[in-house]
This record gives sequence, structure tokens and C-alpha cells, in this order.
Amino acid sequence: MKTGLQRREENIRFLKSVSMLRDLPSDKLAKVADVLEIDFFHEGEFIIREGCTGDTFFLINKGEVKVTQTVVGHNEPQEIRKLKRGDIFGEKALLGEDRRTASCIAQPPGVECLTIDRESFNQLIGDINELRNKDYGDKARGAQRLSQLTPGFS
Ligand code: CMP
Repeated sequence: MKTGLQRREENIRFLKSVSMLRDLPSDKLAKVADVLEIDFFHEGEFIIREGCTGDTFFLINKGEVKVTQTVVGHNEPQEIRKLKRGDIFGEKALLGEDRRTASCIAQPPGVECLTIDRESFNQLIGDINELRNKDYGDKARGAQRLSQLTPGFS
């Protein structure tokens, strides 16, 4: 059984390895470590569903996450990318987009994420330029929000 202190030190080590967060000053990094929650997802589970509202930001601690998206010209959501340990997701709905722009699905054998809620995200992370300016090329690829494709979907 890990103590709270061990868990915190482990979290800080992990946060330092996340490229997006590497320039955060250490006092902020320590604050992020304090507010992190841990969450587990079974294989196949939707961690995020495209088109839904959301208040959580995710960092992958273990496992792999598949990103799928509704794309013009395809009936089924298309696989866009696989994310792994150290990758982040779920920032868009906290930064101006009102809805989740893609689905994020836990891959076998399951995924462990560290999560940050909207309030802490805004206080500690939301002003990182690299995060704010992250452009996946979704618009250029013809990705469209489910709400734009489905009349009556809100
Ligand atoms: P958000 O829109 O909050 O929820 C879905 C997340 O999927 C989104 O934030 C991004 O973190 C991520 N995402 C969206 N589009 C892509 C993409 N093309 N490649 C990788 N990740 C993406």
C-alpha cells in the first residue's frame, strides 16, 4: 500500500515526464500533483464520448486510448489516433469548445488515467500556450461535430 506522500512524489515524477507540462514551474507542478485523481477504465469503455459536455482533463498513466471522430463522408466514426502513457486528452472541451470533439476509448487490457477537474485545470494548466494552440487538424480533415450532423442532437 502506497502512502499519500509516495503517491504524490510518483505523480510529480510522472508529471515531469509529460512533455506538455514540462515548462510548468515546480510550485505549480506540485499543486497539480495535489489535485490529481486516479481513474480506471475497462477495455472498450468510452472515457469520453464525442458530442457530450465534459469537465475533466485526462493524462494517461497506463495503457492505450483510441481516438475516434465523426468525419464527413463516413457513416461510422473513424479512428484518428492511438494515445499512450504520457499523452493527454480532453483539453478541448475545457478550452472554448463546448462539446467533446472526439471519442476516447480504453484499449485492452484497460487504462489508468490521472484526471484534473475543470476548476483546477483553469487555475493551473489552462494557460499553457502549447495546450491552447494544440491543433489536431480536425477541421482541415473534415471532422464535424455530431451535433452539426445530427438534427435534434444537442
Ligand atoms: P475534447 O474535445 O475535450 O475531448 C475529446 C478529445 O480528443 C479532445 O479534447 C482532444 O484531447 C482529443 N482529440 C481530438 N481530436 C484529436 C485528434 N485528431 N488527434 C488526437 N486527439 C484528438
